[in-house]
Amino acid sequence: EKGGYEHFMQKEIMEQPTALEDAMRGRVLPDDNKIVLGGLHDVMDDLRDADRVIIAACGTSWHSALVGEYLIEHFARTPVEVEYASEFRYRNPILRDGDVVLVISQSGETADTLAAVREAQRQGVMCLGICNVVGSTIARETDAGVYLHAGPEIGVASTKAFTAQVIVLAMIALKMAEDRTLSHAEFADAVHALASIPDKVRTTLEMDGQIEKMANIYRYSSNFLYLGRGFNFPVALEGALKLKEISYIHAEGYPAAEMKHGPIALIDRFMPVVFIALKDSTYDKVVSNIEEVAARDGSVIAITDEGNGELDELCEYVLRIPQTQEFLSPLLAVVPLQLLSYHIAVMRGCDVDQPRNLAKSVTVE
Ligand code: F6R
Repeated sequence: EKGGYEHFMQKEIMEQPTALEDAMRGRVLPDDNKIVLGGLHDVMDDLRDADRVIIAACGTSWHSALVGEYLIEHFARTPVEVEYASEFRYRNPILRDGDVVLVISQSGETADTLAAVREAQRQGVMCLGICNVVGSTIARETDAGVYLHAGPEIGVASTKAFTAQVIVLAMIALKMAEDRTLSHAEFADAVHALASIPDKVRTTLEMDGQIEKMANIYRYSSNFLYLGRGFNFPVALEGALKLKEISYIHAEGYPAAEMKHGPIALIDRFMPVVFIALKDSTYDKVVSNIEEVAARDGSVIAITDEGNGELDELCEYVLRIPQTQEFLSPLLAVVPLQLLSYHIAVMRGCDVDQPRNLAKSVTVE
């Protein structure tokens, strides 16, 4: 059942290329320059006309929601707010005509996320869902939605559901932007970039051996910092969550530039700092942050683009991932972070598929 892998988590990390292909099958059609989302067909006009999209979710799904905020605002220019589902419903949220609530839940059973659905409906606002488990409560109760089709996720730590959520959010954002904020050529470029992602994830997974060696060095650390910016700020949060939940190492994720406003005080030679430093619109600023950490003897692990040797001097380890359009880079950048947590947790003797105190779906509020 684990397909020759030692753990479900490892299997699920490794099967991300096919999970992403499955998530895009029949939906991303590069030959026709089309994106087809059958489940949203009847509501797409309302979604495109929305004044505001509010995305509610928990945990890793909340991280993909943050990527969704960047995606929808970037492509469709529709304002987005991201809410912890647990906070949203207890705040007596102000919803208006023209708002659309979108919830994201792998299991489709998370109690707080379900409560967000019911709150939207109580206030008469359209509520859409992105779920993996077919026929789950959230999938049934939302007005419309998109399934991930990522296949069952058994490991408690979410991996392939995260990347599938991000790819579905990219499809939604592009569909909202088609023939509006995006030209035909820009749309076609983005569709082709989407279609090429599974192979790039395959290439990224080839670093597994290199990351396992690195994990052997970092397994004894008791704190980690993860920093990223823009589309990859949520990936920094996700990297930190993956590490803490399965290896029980304390880790925090921050937007890279926030480091100067507090976390920099933590940095000494015992503090590994993982930077997502891709050659995108934020690169130069992130490199200055790396210099600041290196100057304080922090041990920097950088994730950067294939072919970029500029960080080799400054960093302890540089992991290189294939190039893609900036909006899709979270799908590649998160993979080495998943592998790093996995290997560290295994080396520390942790039960990676069933971490202490955690359940696969949280059905209490
Ligand atoms: C983290 C993790 C949890 C879930 C969260 C939401 O690896 O698995 O943080 O992401 O409990 O679960 P769903 O997406 O099922 O609503």
